[in-house]
Amino acid sequence: MRVLFVCLGNICRSPTAEGVLRHKLREAGLADQVEVASAGTGDWHVGRAPDKRSQAAARLRGYDLSAQRAQQVTRADFATYDLILAMDHSNLRNLEALQPARGKAELDLFLRRYQSDVDEVPDPYHDGDQGFEHVLDLIERATDLLVIELKGRV
Ligand code: 4NP
Repeated sequence: MRVLFVCLGNICRSPTAEGVLRHKLREAGLADQVEVASAGTGDWHVGRAPDKRSQAAARLRGYDLSAQRAQQVTRADFATYDLILAMDHSNLRNLEALQPARGKAELDLFLRRYQSDVDEVPDPYHDGDQGFEHVLDLIERATDLLVIELKGRV
């Protein structure tokens, strides 16, 4: 089972989701059965480590994002991944435009799929530290439900 998180730059939201899911999969004993990755719809930050503010906020909650490097999503990803989860409506629209007619990946809006009160993880790039905390709050909650789904699918 392979899961890909997608945001705009792949330096804030989707790397955070990747780090949180990887951590929770280890706790659930599913680390060997689920592969996790993240990517951006844009290419500005390709090859870079996650934003320092994302790394710092994540580290305080026990998630290490330091080994991640940004990459841009490709059409081939729709054949590689089973589940592609977009952080906001704009990411989802960009992914729908890229999606081949046939491909195994199921594409969805991350928070909508896991029934949060809000359906987008807001872009924290131009925000203060509080934006990064909010991103983590939303991602942690939805990831708990994602892990429950994955337990039933692997
Ligand atoms: P992300 O945040 O999509 O959560 O990685 C952003 C990072 C960089 C930019 C936009 C959003 N940017 O415009 O460079």
